[in-house]
Amino acid sequence: MTYQAEGYLAEVLLTEEQIQKRVAELGAQISRDYAGQELLLLGILKGSVIFLSDLMRRITIPHQVDFLAFSSYTKGVRESTGVVRILKDLDEPVAGKNLLIVEDIIDTGHTLNYLTQLLQTRNPVSLKICTLLNKTARRVIDIPVDYVGFDIEDKYVFGYGLDLDQVFRNLPFIGVVKPGAGYSRD
Ligand code: IMP
Ligand code: MG
Repeated sequence: MTYQAEGYLAEVLLTEEQIQKRVAELGAQISRDYAGQELLLLGILKGSVIFLSDLMRRITIPHQVDFLAFSSYTKGVRESTGVVRILKDLDEPVAGKNLLIVEDIIDTGHTLNYLTQLLQTRNPVSLKICTLLNKTARRVIDIPVDYVGFDIEDKYVFGYGLDLDQVFRNLPFIGVVKPGAGYSRD
């Protein structure tokens, strides 16, 4: 299948097979770690939706899901500013639950630093983080990450939920963007 992404793709960083294998491993590990506990997965819109939907099907214990949305990067801008704004809050209170944040990628750490501080004020039983990708070289704020799919280099990546100027989230693989490439920058 072609996704018309070839013109933007420098290389495939992670294949569909590599991603699916790792997601299955994470799902199995989470199922063991939270066995017998009340688990609530918190997906961060929009980047984590593909990862979350695959991950939850690999989790074999009963669990719930909820979603949060933050203001994201402006189109064409690929730097986190540290200024985070909530666009969609959780539907239900989280007091008394084990929360597992499911994120696509941790870059500077600004977004998750803000989010973990916010959620701690709501008295969950526990709060952990699961990210598919971890760009440690770019970290500005040190936050503990409990489950990591892949540590990756400092390159802008897209596919499998991650966007290139809001498109190509549908790619089943993760690719590195060609230097200077952007999708319909205005
Ligand atoms: P942070 O606040 O700098 O950690 O930003 C994390 C967010 O930036 C992620 O949830 C993504 O939405 C976005 N992001 C960071 N790096 C990339 C990338 O390489 N490709 C696509 N989105 C990215
Ligand atoms: Mg994101």
